[in-house]
Amino acid sequence: MSGPVLLTGAAGEIGTVLREGLPERGWAVRGLDVVEVGEPRPGEEVLVADVTDLDALTAAAQGAAAVVHMAGIPGESDWAAIAHANVEGTYCVLEAARRADVGRVVLASSNHATGYTGRPASGLLREDDGLPRPDTYYGVSKVTLEALGSLYADRYGLDVVCLRIGTHAPEPPDLRALATWLSPRDTVALVDAALRAPSPGFRVVWGVSANTRGWWDLTAARSLGYDPQDDAEAYADALLAAYGEADPADPVHARVGGPYTLPEYDAEGARS
Ligand SMILES: NC(=O)c1ccc[n+]([C@@H]2O[C@H](COP(=O)([O-])OP(=O)(O)OC[C@H]3O[C@@H](n4cnc5c(N)ncnc54)[C@H](O)[C@@H]3O)[C@@H](O)[C@H]2O)c1
Repeated sequence: MSGPVLLTGAAGEIGTVLREGLPERGWAVRGLDVVEVGEPRPGEEVLVADVTDLDALTAAAQGAAAVVHMAGIPGESDWAAIAHANVEGTYCVLEAARRADVGRVVLASSNHATGYTGRPASGLLREDDGLPRPDTYYGVSKVTLEALGSLYADRYGLDVVCLRIGTHAPEPPDLRALATWLSPRDTVALVDAALRAPSPGFRVVWGVSANTRGWWDLTAARSLGYDPQDDAEAYADALLAAYGEADPADPVHARVGGPYTLPEYDAEGARS
């Protein structure tokens, strides 16, 4: 593939990791964000645009080898904000790719597309185990992102790889992250694999490191060429000393979405 990777959300947490990591793997980056991305690195282009501006996105996608879509609201918010940034934004990214004749799009999905799924007592969950079970409006936006990706793959022949990211952080921050952690270097490896896999068509894969206590089957991600190097187990002793063993009776530990499945995340109107 020739041309740069158009990276949306380039000023964000994961975008910043990819701005550094993708060039190390041979990709030129065209970073785009609604806020200033910062000084361009050598060989990098940077743009300020809103992903819901279809004309701006289509112009930004011209000549790109692929789009990596990380822009959006990365957690729960009110419906109007989620619908605008995450649903309308994903539509615009895919439609811009189609109009600009960009053949591959990598989309940031989330484990919260399936957050109400029970944690398995044993064994691993596959991407296609059951129907989507979003835990929040945010999770609904990720189910919609995957559905839009499927539509653009089937109808227009785009390669679309959806990454159901667990918990991206320099180190696993809590007990849940012993299963859900995605390290920064594994993030780069996963996006690189999604960009390089020959003719993937439409794919949905879990985005986590090789965590000993993980719930998610990495077979599909590995089949793209993803070879995770990190395991949250290296942090288990410190986290267990800080928080104790997870109490199975605690609802926060019952479902894969963790705290997002609790009543604290009910919509304002439903709380009274
Ligand atoms: N960080 C995680 O653990 C995690 C887990 C699962 C999924 N994800 C997904 O990965 C993606 C990146 O997450 P992150 O942690 O880097 O989030 P972040 O908030 O750090 O970065 C998101 C970036 O998107 C930009 N943005 C927001 N709305 C925009 C718009 N309308 N137009 C253009 N840019 C816009 C923001 O300015 C920000 O720089 C998100 O889609 C998030 O849902 C992240």
